[in-house]
Amino acid sequence: MPGSKSTAEQYADYKLKMQKIADVRNAIAVLGWDQETYLPEKGAAFRGQQITTLSSIAHELFTAEDLGSLLHQLQNNQDLNAVQQKNILLSIEDYDKNKKYPAALVAEISEATNQAYHAWIKARKANDYQIFAPALTRMVELKRKEADILGYEDHPYNALLNEYEKGANTSMLDTIFTEVKSALSPLLDKIAQQPAVRRDFLHRNYNKDKQWKLGIDILKEMGYDMKAGRQDISEHPFTTSFNPLDVRVTTRIDENDFSNMTWSCIHEGGHALYEQGLPSEQYGLPCGEAASLGIHESQSRLWENNVGRSLDFWKFQYPKVQQLFTENLSDVSLEEFYHAINHVQPSLIRTEADELTYHFHIMIRYEIEKGLIDGSISTKDLNHTWNEYYRQYLHVEVPDDAQGVLQDIHWSHGSFGYFPTYSLGSFYAAQFFASAQKQVPELATDIASGQYHSLLEWLRTNVHPFGRFYTSNELCEKITGKPLQFSYFLDYATKKFL
Ligand code: CO
Repeated sequence: MPGSKSTAEQYADYKLKMQKIADVRNAIAVLGWDQETYLPEKGAAFRGQQITTLSSIAHELFTAEDLGSLLHQLQNNQDLNAVQQKNILLSIEDYDKNKKYPAALVAEISEATNQAYHAWIKARKANDYQIFAPALTRMVELKRKEADILGYEDHPYNALLNEYEKGANTSMLDTIFTEVKSALSPLLDKIAQQPAVRRDFLHRNYNKDKQWKLGIDILKEMGYDMKAGRQDISEHPFTTSFNPLDVRVTTRIDENDFSNMTWSCIHEGGHALYEQGLPSEQYGLPCGEAASLGIHESQSRLWENNVGRSLDFWKFQYPKVQQLFTENLSDVSLEEFYHAINHVQPSLIRTEADELTYHFHIMIRYEIEKGLIDGSISTKDLNHTWNEYYRQYLHVEVPDDAQGVLQDIHWSHGSFGYFPTYSLGSFYAAQFFASAQKQVPELATDIASGQYHSLLEWLRTNVHPFGRFYTSNELCEKITGKPLQFSYFLDYATKKFL
């Protein structure tokens, strides 16, 4: 009899519907992974069509009226346990948000994004920002419209930010970036006075196959389950997950740059360990999904920097690497290697920046995005605005648009509010790692002997299993006893670099 289902039956219906949507979305993800790795050139056109078809099916399923009424029937149902209640609450949030977008706006955004992406490619090739400017202007207008539809407090940018990092807002970021400016700048000045270090050996010829083997070895040592994942080559390294038992990473190899593959492997490995650690019994439900982009990035950056650029890590790894590449590293000591891989110097390109100056790159993008959205910065001559910021904060002269305002893909994708999650990731990582060090006394000696299971176990207990049950800041308070604080990163950086 309809309407007389028990709570348990209704929840089972909900779960079934959500898992069906997840199945479609994950099929899209498989197609996307294939597109970036093995898809033959001629397959691209139909692949685009296949992805569009599946996306509209997923959208239909997730906007269906019967799902909406089921969700509202289950809302605030005290017969559900805490995790179930949270799943319902978050699904309602997602569902309602999805419903807010008028179909016409969705189509307009999709069309504008496509146009902006192609304009960006063209502008980059021609090294001319003005080719991109009209498309960016339209994109900013649409993003403002989107912010109005989503709703916000204090600043329209908050609406966009919340799409990637729930709970984050401009006042929190303003505070953090003010500290970045006031504390990191003097630190950078001190570092600049240190004697120059040798780095030439990082750019000797490193055999492709040997690099590949090193990457796989490190992933396995980190605890990445090769029976629930695999690594392939792609142009830009990424991690994608279809469920916790199938989480894939990619990397790229540059024979003349030892750093390129090594730290991208460790970085993606950190993302992948998080995905493999999400609860598979929550498949398709919010509590089976990553907490936020910032928390995701905290996992990759914790492994990449706090672990993968530490002296302890290389105490164990370096002799192995030295043996693997005797021809390049036999004349390089552990200390020389360690200093070379932690070289700090202001530069032009975000993705090539060291772990300190990196945050100035993000701060500049944050200030520009915020200004574009509230109208205090104009897209007209944004290249000059950009160059002025780089002069002011990083003391570098931007030679042209391609190495300046056009270097990142994000704005052409309409991803406004995404950049700050990179910095938040580093700051969460520092705060989490400080807690792990306190709670796992053997952590340093373990890492120095190539044993990473105590760290992984700590992450599997404290970070991975909750999915979206906690917001980023709730998770941070739960783990460390405090909300996010920049001082942890500053302590880490000061100790490491001075
Ligand atoms: Co990442």
